[in-house]
Amino acid sequence: MEQLLEIDVLTIFPDVVRVPLSESIMGRAMSSGIVRTCIHDLRDWTNDNHKKVDDEPYGGGPGMVMKPEPFFSAVNDLKKEDTKVVLMTPQGKRFNQKKAEFFAKSSSHMIVLCGHYEGIDHRVIESLVDEEISIGDYVLTNGAIAAAVFIDSVVRLIPGVLGDDRSNVEESFSVYEGILEAPAYTRPADFQGKKVPDVLLSGNHKKILDWKFDKARERTKKNRPDLI
Ligand code: ADE
Repeated sequence: MEQLLEIDVLTIFPDVVRVPLSESIMGRAMSSGIVRTCIHDLRDWTNDNHKKVDDEPYGGGPGMVMKPEPFFSAVNDLKKEDTKVVLMTPQGKRFNQKKAEFFAKSSSHMIVLCGHYEGIDHRVIESLVDEEISIGDYVLTNGAIAAAVFIDSVVRLIPGVLGDDRSNVEESFSVYEGILEAPAYTRPADFQGKKVPDVLLSGNHKKILDWKFDKARERTKKNRPDLI
């Protein structure tokens, strides 16, 4: 199969990114040849015996800041003509499905930088980074966790990655233009007296679609009123 996307990840915790991307749909995508992902240890681009990647912040303050040199050397080694460099950081623009679609369509090579500690030397952001991405308004212990989330959400949109292409269209934030999905049920039709709604067993597709739409709106109003 034609390779559509290459991703290089720079992190000091390669396994945190590698493990979630090695199972199930992502694992198959990686071995199918549609996507090539390479998870690098940023320490491979240090020159000192201690493989030091962080230092104290100028101007004081708590924690450590990631040094610029390893990022500059690594990106210089890995960069191609059309590379997009993305930094995972809680200071970034909030990630969403639209942005995932953008990256899936517009990129052929990405380098994903993972922050850690109190942050990353700002010269890296100014000189190397095309887009700073936050996966949500909370702070993780390290950007490698966010990178796995980011990569999963982009890669699953690459044609050929999801077995059933319909599941790409019919899910939240797509089919009903930005509202949540309707509840789903499977067998048994009666579980401990809790019954699957009759309409879903009716075989009437029009009625089922109407029901799904009503339930999707109801759920969205309850859980995500900001989307209505
Ligand atoms: N690193 C720590 N928290 C993060 C977040 N919310 N998004 C992206 N990277 C992060």
